[in-house]
Amino acid sequence: MPIKVADGVYWVGAIDWNLRLYHNTYSTHHGTTYNSYLLLDEQIALVDTVYGPFYEELLKNIKELVPVEKITYVIVNHAESDHSGALPRVMEIIPRARVVCTSKCKDILSRLYHTPAGIGPATWDFLVVGSGDELKIGKKTLRFIEAPMMHWPDNMFTYVEEDKLLLSNDPFGQHVASYERFEDEAEQAVVWEEAAKYFANTLSPFTALIKRKVEEIQSLPIEIIAPSHGVIWRKEPQRILEKYHRWASGEAEERVLIAYETMWESTEIMAGAIAEGVQREGVPVRLFKLSTVDHADVFRELLEARGLMIGSSTINNTVLPAAASFIEGLKGLRPKGKVACAFGSHGWGGGAVKVIEQAVRQAGIEHVVPGLAVKYRPDAGELEACQRLGIQFAREVKKFSPGG
Ligand code: FEO
Repeated sequence: MPIKVADGVYWVGAIDWNLRLYHNTYSTHHGTTYNSYLLLDEQIALVDTVYGPFYEELLKNIKELVPVEKITYVIVNHAESDHSGALPRVMEIIPRARVVCTSKCKDILSRLYHTPAGIGPATWDFLVVGSGDELKIGKKTLRFIEAPMMHWPDNMFTYVEEDKLLLSNDPFGQHVASYERFEDEAEQAVVWEEAAKYFANTLSPFTALIKRKVEEIQSLPIEIIAPSHGVIWRKEPQRILEKYHRWASGEAEERVLIAYETMWESTEIMAGAIAEGVQREGVPVRLFKLSTVDHADVFRELLEARGLMIGSSTINNTVLPAAASFIEGLKGLRPKGKVACAFGSHGWGGGAVKVIEQAVRQAGIEHVVPGLAVKYRPDAGELEACQRLGIQFAREVKKFSPGG
């Protein structure tokens, strides 16, 4: 059912209780929502639609408030299918409505929804907007703010001046399915964890742009931030802006993650000895065996940890498959503000430590502490070396600041 967000602003989206994999890359343990908003004024604007299979739910919600035919504008803040999938069917009902979006969004919609018969976007009446453009729909003034690469080139925010409301689409969202529509009603730990997971697994490569954009919108009077996934921030929405600024700046806790994969336990034994060294320096440490954990959750944990140690046994001169998958993910996500180090056991030729060190540099991590390779099983002296590495790494983590 529709839920009031502000005067004349209603959530009319859909809840997807069963989504467990987003982008076919990262886990969504709590499902998600596709948030769509209806602005009721002299003219009626729909801001974003929903993923295609949820079209009927969107339609039902709109119809509880107004006939769909009364919609004058469909504002598309972002073209990705989870927000635009229902758009072609909505446009079949209101073919004369104007589709308001950035020029990049128009291009993407045209590439996504073209039809052989030439209907669809080719016939839509687009109103292309950019930063600073405004649209009056009666008493409400909608101001558009382009937000490229948050997280596609087409993203934009719609700011409703009179309500001090930012309709932000993906940014500030969280994959949480719930009947609670506002953050202050929802389970706090889950909401914040999923907000961090979204940032870590989707927005992490674009931190420089995000930091500037957050600073830009921090200058706006904002009372509500309504994203297109999860719950709406109405109680001190500045908190999520501050979090985004922190994450985009690469600020994190004095904490170490040890992510490793092992063939015959030797690398695992090394991980334990290294962890002991880190603890001796009073730095919290967590271990993750990469074939048994969800990598998206590890990347979420990494968002708030300054130190990352990656270990793998060597196979065929490289890392084990689970470690390979993890470092590939790391190279794409390019987490900011980290110190890294590699370790691992090998039989004869070795190679895993070198592969990991190359990968972390390719991931943009510049501060790399020289790693440690051990032949076969670590002996007493090598275990001491592992512990010393843990101590040294923890000291590097304490000294490190993301700015320099
Ligand atoms: Fe929620 Fe970029 O789509």
